[in-house]
Amino acid sequence: MKVALCIIATGKYKRFLCELLATAERYFCAGHEVQLFVFTDADPILILPPSSFRLHPFPAPHEPWPGPTLHRYRTMLQAADDLLACDYVYYIDVDSRFVRPVGEEIFGGAPGAPGRGLTATIHFGYTNRPRGEWTYEHRPFSRACVWPGEGKRYYCGGFQGGRAANYVEAMRIMNAAIADDEGHGITAVWHDESHWNRYLIDHKPEVELSHDYMCPPQWRPQTQRIVIVGKNNAEIRADRPEETPSHAVV
Ligand code: GAL
Ligand code: GAL
Ligand code: MN
Repeated sequence: MKVALCIIATGKYKRFLCELLATAERYFCAGHEVQLFVFTDADPILILPPSSFRLHPFPAPHEPWPGPTLHRYRTMLQAADDLLACDYVYYIDVDSRFVRPVGEEIFGGAPGAPGRGLTATIHFGYTNRPRGEWTYEHRPFSRACVWPGEGKRYYCGGFQGGRAANYVEAMRIMNAAIADDEGHGITAVWHDESHWNRYLIDHKPEVELSHDYMCPPQWRPQTQRIVIVGKNNAEIRADRPEETPSHAVV
């Protein structure tokens, strides 16, 4: 299969790219043709290590947080034609790394077969918490609004994708909803993640991955496959080094 792996690396988040790529080479979809889509505010030649993956670099603006994540679908849709030439497309947070093989179990049914086609990952933070604590957007004026009683799972934004056609369609619809919210001066509580959760209520994912596919490093060490390495979010998200706060925010 041709498998696209999309990574957004702007601002200080570029520091995570090399380690993620090294672990992707080792663990991501071994035996398949992986194509790497990197969206960055830097010259890709200067920041990318040599890789066996075919590279598709695209520009991404350097925006203050949460811009890079909120606008991720707009950023990735620049590559829509190339993404649609792949069988499967996945997005992964740059501040994460693979620690065990991640392969065909994320694919869902064969391309072209009828099916829903999306792959979603359960958020590690809410599995044992009552539904009332799940952090869906609940304000009715947001397009990401989840109404009382809706939603069976809370999914993370950090690892997602599916069959190319289904996921590109999802990106288009979420991008439009996010732009619509912005036109009304609204930012959903968890940004893109809120819109992804709304979309998945309307389009049930075909493949649901456990939180072993996006969890803190200390989480279930025997079974984890993708771990989050981002640590000091306040420092990473600060636009300029001199604004770096002295305390860590987890
Ligand atoms: C946090 C995570 C955020 C967001 C939030 C949702 O653990 O760091 O990115 O997913 O949960 O409540
Ligand atoms: C995080 C997630 C990111 C992004 C962010 C939204 O949990 O890892 O991919 O969705 O929430 O603030
Ligand atoms: Mn992150």
